[in-house]
Amino acid sequence: MKVETLRWASDRLEMIDQRVLPAEFRYLSYDSAASVARGIRDMVVRGAPAIGVAAAYGVALEALRLQGLSAGRFREELDAGFSLLAESRPTAINLFWALDRMRRLRDAACDADSAAPPGIARRLLEEAHAMHAEDIAINRAMGVFGAELLKDGARVLTHCNAGALATAGHGTALGVFRSAVEAGKRISVIADETRPFLQGARLTAWEMVQEKIPVTLITDNMAGHMMSAGEIDAVVVGTDRVASNGDVANKIGTYMVAVLASRHGIPFYVACPLSTIDMTIAGGKDIPIEERPACEVKGFRDTIWAAEGVAIRNPAFDVTPAELVTGLITEKGVVFAPDREKLQALFRRDD
Ligand code: MRU
Repeated sequence: MKVETLRWASDRLEMIDQRVLPAEFRYLSYDSAASVARGIRDMVVRGAPAIGVAAAYGVALEALRLQGLSAGRFREELDAGFSLLAESRPTAINLFWALDRMRRLRDAACDADSAAPPGIARRLLEEAHAMHAEDIAINRAMGVFGAELLKDGARVLTHCNAGALATAGHGTALGVFRSAVEAGKRISVIADETRPFLQGARLTAWEMVQEKIPVTLITDNMAGHMMSAGEIDAVVVGTDRVASNGDVANKIGTYMVAVLASRHGIPFYVACPLSTIDMTIAGGKDIPIEERPACEVKGFRDTIWAAEGVAIRNPAFDVTPAELVTGLITEKGVVFAPDREKLQALFRRDD
């Protein structure tokens, strides 16, 4: 099944509502920067690359909505749209990467003598479409490199959902599994449930079942036992932001998995498009970690199991130090034992 996380239909952006999967499969429709920003904040769409592409469409929708205004007002009001989108979620660098790319295009188009708002809006929409297509191509390239790392019959643990649902299609970590299967390898996936939002139980399990890739669901606290019992051959996860020294921010609980993998001599790979590497920050300590609402930890949906009055913390991401990362799987190849020099060299390469 081809999962179309985001699609353009009848001059609107449609996104799969990931909050209700797998019980329900439905698309919601978006027509402005404000509505897309809400969709990102409320987790209708989530996963770093998907958030970036959604934000690009948010800018394009806003430009289309404002195209009847004078050039000056158009630019001013579009800026407000950029700000709303930038405030939606703080950790995924792909959001800011996508907004920067759209802003550069907007500025260049506005500065051109012939620029009129309808023409600029059309260019911004074309750019959003291009980013959507590029994301799928990048995931496929990463998939080929990542698949080579997995042996036939590998049992691979993943955390959260870094699948087609977290991207424009194919996925980063789950893209590696899809590509390995396409290459004829037998792969089975162990999906961490991923408390508290259950992206593993709800989304990764659903994607792998649709794809007919064998998948086994475990609760997050079972990973150590599975590793010590020799039931895991490799770990592959996605990421929301990699610092210039190779430190990796990903869904809360990833750090725990990385420490366990290191203890058991299991390779720990991170599938990571170049747009997720933030060369402007020195290390993981500089990555902003989102704190999400307490209700996500107190219970799930309408069911509350925590004692009334208890204090709650809900950091949505953690940082895995570079020394625990066996390799970053990028669209340009695998960077083993990533560090600043290797990442700088990766960006200098022009293939
Ligand atoms: O809070 P989420 O669901 O947006 O978190 C998503 C993740 O942590 C993913 O692993 C990450 O964005 C990589 S997605 C290819």
